[in-house]
Amino acid sequence: MAAGQGTRMRSALPKVLHPVAGRPMVRHVVDAAREAGVTRCVVVVGHGAEQVRAALGGGVLYAEQPERLGTGDAVRRARAAADGVRRLLVLNGDAALVTGDMLRLLMDRHVSSGAALTLLTARVADPAGLGRVVRGPDGGVARVVEDPEAGDEARTLDEVNTGLYCFDAAWLWAHLPRLERSAGGEYYLTDLVGLAVAEGAPVQAVPAPGDFDPVGINDRVQLARAEAALRRRFCERLMRDGVTIIDPATTYVEAGVQAGRDTVIYPNTHLQGETRIGQGCHIGPNSVVRDSTVGDRCRIEASYVEGSTLEPDVLVGPFSHVRPGSYLESGVHLGNYAEVKNSRIGAGTQQHHFSYVGDAQVGRDVNIGAGTITCNYDGREKHRTVIGDRAFIGSDTMLIAPVRVGDGASTGAGSVVNRDVPADSLAVGVPARIRRKPPPEDP
Ligand code: UD1
Ligand code: CA
Repeated sequence: MAAGQGTRMRSALPKVLHPVAGRPMVRHVVDAAREAGVTRCVVVVGHGAEQVRAALGGGVLYAEQPERLGTGDAVRRARAAADGVRRLLVLNGDAALVTGDMLRLLMDRHVSSGAALTLLTARVADPAGLGRVVRGPDGGVARVVEDPEAGDEARTLDEVNTGLYCFDAAWLWAHLPRLERSAGGEYYLTDLVGLAVAEGAPVQAVPAPGDFDPVGINDRVQLARAEAALRRRFCERLMRDGVTIIDPATTYVEAGVQAGRDTVIYPNTHLQGETRIGQGCHIGPNSVVRDSTVGDRCRIEASYVEGSTLEPDVLVGPFSHVRPGSYLESGVHLGNYAEVKNSRIGAGTQQHHFSYVGDAQVGRDVNIGAGTITCNYDGREKHRTVIGDRAFIGSDTMLIAPVRVGDGASTGAGSVVNRDVPADSLAVGVPARIRRKPPPEDP
């Protein structure tokens, strides 16, 4: 169910699209359903339907809820798309902390008990705003009371409905039309619990495992709470895989991130998107690695790495920016205000100080001196720079692209290179003139 506006978010963005740990909250719910083995997933959309469809894409079916008439109405709208299904999971779109394991447990209990309706519950310190689970004298569930309807007694109950259910489909479709509108004008899906109990249909209320926080995200305070819980979960997954995280509270790991054994992550590090970090790396402090692949034994300190690949033993930082489309071969050292964009840098090349290399191909064992700039943009188009193996680029060299510097060539400090430099020659001056290299001195 993802049709609600989420008034309490006070946002132009539909609530279910607010990102939690880097993904729209409803995406976490869909992912958990898939993980639990759900093959046909129907998303009920309404408020901001186009945006929600665009965010979730074509892997799911959609049903429209024309008016926000409550969760009971939302489920009714999914009937056609869920046609022919015997059992259904019904999930709140704001239950970002749900996991596949939890849904499997819910389904297993539903199937083994033969219930018409099974709901997952949780005990919480502060149940305010949530539907309370009322149990009868025999301990069985009697009904769910929504917060606005809860009397003083129900308000003290600390077992709450998580908004995650499993239904016998025939029973569900037969009973949804019997829901009555609340005083606030909504059809509460949760009224089905009382309906089932009243007619003697079997109902199961399954407590969620562990310390599951059932926070359904309604406002930005709950958003931050869910964010912290997910972040902790992803950090713990890496730690169990053999990664040391010095301070999980200030380490921001998103769902798709992997890291190898004996990698150490220092505080204030953000690992985002599709990022894979190898073994024995040292990442952070104060670094962001996004959509990148990092080989074994790399070190990234106080730097940004985005959309790039680092082979093993690469050092980046402190204070460097590796921008999308870059490929750093093994043993490359970038540091102290080095920027690389859309470039391949050969093995063992060093680029240590205040420099920009963009749209370039740089060979092996090249030295890029302090202040080197590839002048890749002429105001209209981008041009490429090619630097050969073992070249020595003197400090403050301006490489006016398109330009090529041959293998073993050198450029003098402060040179402005606006034409190709042949292999093993020297370019000096402004604009640079080409000279033969002086022969190497006798040892
Ligand atoms: C709901 C439950 C409550 C439970 C809580 C758990 C009901 C009546 N109450 O309350 O028992 O404790 O979740 O977090 O179900 N939605 C629609 N169309 C609508 C209304 C809602 O699609 O007309 C969607 C929302 O987008 C949201 C989900 O259903 O993803 C839940 O709605 P929400 O308004 O957040 O329900 P709660 O008041 O939190
Ligand atoms: Ca909610």
